Amino acid sequence: MTMLQTDSQGHLRHFLNFDDLSYQHLISIMDTAESFVGITKRSIKKVPLLRGHTIVNLFFEPSTRTLTTFELAAKRLSADVLNFHPKTSATKKGESLLDTLHTIEAMQCDMFIVRHADSGAAHFIAQHTHPDVSVINAGDGSHAHPTQAMLDMFTIRHHKTDFTKLSVAIVGDVLHSRVARSQIHALNLLQTGEIRVIAPKTLLSNHIKTLGVEVYHNLEQGIKDVDVIIMLRLQKERMQGALLPSENEYFQLYGLTANKLKLAKPDVIVMHPGPINRGVEMDSIVADGPHSVILQQVSYGIAIRMAVMSMILTPPQSQ
Ligand code: CP
Repeated sequence: MTMLQTDSQGHLRHFLNFDDLSYQHLISIMDTAESFVGITKRSIKKVPLLRGHTIVNLFFEPSTRTLTTFELAAKRLSADVLNFHPKTSATKKGESLLDTLHTIEAMQCDMFIVRHADSGAAHFIAQHTHPDVSVINAGDGSHAHPTQAMLDMFTIRHHKTDFTKLSVAIVGDVLHSRVARSQIHALNLLQTGEIRVIAPKTLLSNHIKTLGVEVYHNLEQGIKDVDVIIMLRLQKERMQGALLPSENEYFQLYGLTANKLKLAKPDVIVMHPGPINRGVEMDSIVADGPHSVILQQVSYGIAIRMAVMSMILTPPQSQ
């Protein structure tokens, strides 16, 4: 996967994962997003930056947050947006992924936003698409979800400023989570003070410690004195076999309640990429409580996606 994402000057061409990105890339994405936050608060939420560009949402897996915020972000940049719906497309008649791709490419589009259940699908499309077309990974299998991780980093930066002094806990189904994988990668690139991962052994991979994290199997110990808690969704659709005794037991052991939250720092923020399973991953009183920044994550998703799309399609020499 080396260097597919950047050109010889280090500008973003695709955004698939964090493999060949640097600290400076992440800071540039967040600084660019900062300039778009103001636009999202105006009465006319539009700038002409991507006028004349065509962006195609290729979502082969369900989505609420990612699909809608990518569409809104593209429209706020004045791009033309096409939403491809696999369920009502010729893929149902057996058309292959590559034939679908080349068919849409023939309509002179500039960017594909790809969500797919298979790990590596966005990378595969980036390798096979026309050289003038860029690809953003909107979540592939259990591999990566880089714009989600970026909006999470952006949300943390708004509340906490200095990553090197932070203790961040990621809780739950790390094994199946593309979000957790991307968050850990981004937190490491941003030189985060401490990254803790809290999960039952059945929901962690064997090589988790090689990612530079501290592993806990007890929630109360793991969230003690942390600045940020990121709860993960139980990815039931990706679980094979009995990895959990029951949802009720999972909640007793790993569910975040108001009482458990008191163990973290008094100004802790609570995050969740969504969708939330209330009463399984966390109590509603926490999800909707004063420490929760879950809906801010959604809002910042628009600015982050505007930043990534504009950085790819209008690199500095053409701005
Ligand atoms: N966080 C996230 O990817 O949510 P959606 O599946 O709703 O896009």
